[in-house]
Amino acid sequence: MLSLVVLISGGGSNLRALLEASEDAEFPARVVAIGADRDADGLALGEEFGVPTFTVPYSSHADREAWGDELLAQIQQWQPDLVVLSGLMRLLPPRVVAALSPNLVNTHPAYLPEFPGAHGVRDALAAGAGQTGASLIVVDNGVDEGPIIAQERVPVLAGDTETTLHERIKTVERRLLVQAVLDIANGHVNLKELSHT
Ligand code: GAR
Repeated sequence: MLSLVVLISGGGSNLRALLEASEDAEFPARVVAIGADRDADGLALGEEFGVPTFTVPYSSHADREAWGDELLAQIQQWQPDLVVLSGLMRLLPPRVVAALSPNLVNTHPAYLPEFPGAHGVRDALAAGAGQTGASLIVVDNGVDEGPIIAQERVPVLAGDTETTLHERIKTVERRLLVQAVLDIANGHVNLKELSHT
């Protein structure tokens, strides 16, 4: 059974997809803890699904490194096989990436390497792109530059707003994320090999 710590900053709808998938006894992964860098709405899913939560507020640390060290200590208490960044809107300090790599993955609402960064959906709209996408990557020290585990195209439709486009992307992200966790658990995807190619 693959144990997961999932880190969020927002509503956690992709996290919900993972939690729902793990309700199936045959799904080979379980979320053992949910962490956040702020008082994120998605932390409520912990209570709903009976999963412990922790918060390491970015604002109460002297700098990114101090925040990262505390976050890493909290994560490591759970000894997870895999850490999923599912809408965590902070860059992890290099020593956190080094400690968790390659078992550290991130969902991103664009077809990387297109539109990296914190505003992937807004940037695709602003560029007038006819299509964008959803990606799941292995995290390295770049900004959304790590090896791609899975990705899929999503059309941009006339009249799309950031909200409508993001919702369409997230339905794809959820499917990619659940499938990738399944593939990692079953050994069909090897993160170590991916990180060395
Ligand atoms: C997802 O679209 C995720 O890819 C994105 O935040 C959203 C979280 O939604 N992450 C990033 O943009 C990271 N740069 P959720 O809280 O509803 O799961």
